[in-house]
Amino acid sequence: MKIQKTMVIGSGIMGNGIAQVLAQAGYEVYLNDIKEEFIDRGLEKINKNLQRNVEKERMTAEEVETIKGRIHKSLSYEDAKDVQLVIEAATENRQIKLEIFKELDKITSEEAILATNTSSLSLTDIASVTNKPDKVVGMHFFNPVPVMKLVEIVTALQTSEETVKTVQEVIDAFNKTMIIAKDSPGFAVNRILVPMLNEAIFTLGEGVATKESIDTGMKLGAGHPMGPLELCDMIGLDTLLSVLTVLYEGFNDPKYRPAPLLKRMVEAGYYGQKSGKGFYDYK
Ligand code: 3HC
Repeated sequence: MKIQKTMVIGSGIMGNGIAQVLAQAGYEVYLNDIKEEFIDRGLEKINKNLQRNVEKERMTAEEVETIKGRIHKSLSYEDAKDVQLVIEAATENRQIKLEIFKELDKITSEEAILATNTSSLSLTDIASVTNKPDKVVGMHFFNPVPVMKLVEIVTALQTSEETVKTVQEVIDAFNKTMIIAKDSPGFAVNRILVPMLNEAIFTLGEGVATKESIDTGMKLGAGHPMGPLELCDMIGLDTLLSVLTVLYEGFNDPKYRPAPLLKRMVEAGYYGQKSGKGFYDYK
């Protein structure tokens, strides 16, 4: 099956980035959300990213217009009836995702691939609410999506090889690299990355070092492109807590228990960049 038309569900940080890379790779994209103002905010971010490419002379203004012209606003899942690939990037909540997949299963064609950008939920669980579980696959992108070179493919127990092959062609068109991980809590990357971020929060909470020292330490001492606390703010502390909770409950292992300071910050609404305050201020 040749992928031409796609839909991205959710126009937040991840969704708008995914829509941008799809459009840049030549695919038509419906960018779907529950409110038009959310989509407009996503489109604004895409426009900003693309304009930077013009300023840096990596794209012409005409190319940018062509790419933007491939992205269409969508407020209804009905628009998915003629797409070959849906990538769901809605809120990281099991119930919400299951409802979306049940709806998509009714609307999309038999051949359409239903992918999710879930960062931790069980693919096998999500696939099982559809009548075409072999067409369900995880496409786990990394933030910022236009910049990060990896897409982690997560296979449910039911995912077919043909689905993986088709999705691989799309990732090739993005000029990104794919790795394959089995459906296990946190998959491969978050299972390694997220406990490290949690440990940085424990280190701060216990007063071992200041936030600046922790971030500088990991940048200069371990060669990370940004400090772990800066990265927590970029990912979103609410997202981080939800991934940690899935690891903790999924493995029943106390080594994944979320740092108390992380829980408190989420309770306070300090989610990081998206709320204007996290470990650092962004107002
Ligand atoms: N959106 C789009 N482009 C962005 C961006 C954003 N949010 N942030 C930075 N960029 C672009 C910059 O514009 C710049 O592009 P240019 O080459 O056109 O100038 C390029 O990225 C490099 O940016 P900077 O020069 O400002 O800064 P850095 O060189 O430090 O790079 C970074 C910024 C790419 C964010 C780098 O610090 C980095 O790689 N950090 C680690 C990111 C990471 O670990 N991401 C994974 C998070 S985990 C995840 O997403 C999984 C989830 O399930 C939790």
